[in-house]
Amino acid sequence: MKLFSGSSNPQLAEQIAQELQQPLGAVKLLRFSDGEIGVALEEPILRRDVFVIQSCSVPTNDHLMELLIMIDAFRRGGARSITAVVPWLAYSRKEKKDNPQDPISGKLVANLLETAGIDRLIALDLHADAVEGFFDVPVINLSAVSLFAEALQGIDHENTVVVAPDMGGAKRARRLAKELEVPVVILEKIRPHNSPHTEVVSMIGDVSDKRAIIVDDIISTGSTLINAANILKDRGANRVDVCITHPILAEDASAMIKQSRIDRFITTDSIPIPEVKRFDQLQIVSVASLISREISKLIA
Ligand code: R5P
Repeated sequence: MKLFSGSSNPQLAEQIAQELQQPLGAVKLLRFSDGEIGVALEEPILRRDVFVIQSCSVPTNDHLMELLIMIDAFRRGGARSITAVVPWLAYSRKEKKDNPQDPISGKLVANLLETAGIDRLIALDLHADAVEGFFDVPVINLSAVSLFAEALQGIDHENTVVVAPDMGGAKRARRLAKELEVPVVILEKIRPHNSPHTEVVSMIGDVSDKRAIIVDDIISTGSTLINAANILKDRGANRVDVCITHPILAEDASAMIKQSRIDRFITTDSIPIPEVKRFDQLQIVSVASLISREISKLIA
């Protein structure tokens, strides 16, 4: 096998490489003066099973394009199989039409990856089940839920609830609640048309005098999370912890969390968090072992 990394998350790729005891393949990622991306593989990949690690974090479109071009190079170089390991798959939040003339960008990205030449996708907490069905090649959708449960070991089960910050997150919340053996509370969130900001309009369940653990797949602007934390504390939760798989942390989300009523913020390294965006409540759990175990199974 050969393992390669794009430029989006070299720390995670290094860790996966170390766990697999495989070096990262040599590749030059080039940028031409007009902004186009070039890829020069410096390893033979003929008849190899190639794994390429790339999150589609900011700059999203560049990282996505870089991944597509790398896959094209592997295919044209005669790789036996190509597995894209994409912990954060951009555009997966647009998995359906909310209006008759909407695009389904998540499906378009799936088409692009398949056209480029992937034989398999390893993803992490895909935003919606529908996204898996956008691919005709096999998709392994890993989950960070067990890592969160591990990080939360020792909680008082009697006085803890897991909270879904919206209806779409209920299934994910149930999984964590099952691992922690605690009840689920569900919030109903609305997002005014095309607005990045959200409002909580109702809550199913009781949080008074409880530790509330919000679980979600993504934090982008932070609006969903901060609204949820405020409602939970207003309704009597004595502590709010959060578990978020993909820390996009767009705009001033980090500063907002720092000043928020959130007590602990557990996330993963699916997207690297630069030093300037880090805050006191932050705890990062690595998905490197989760991914390397899956790759090991595939190459065994
Ligand atoms: C939405 O359905 C997702 O699961 C997240 O709740 C959402 O993407 C978070 O976005 P933001 O941080 O901008 O509210």
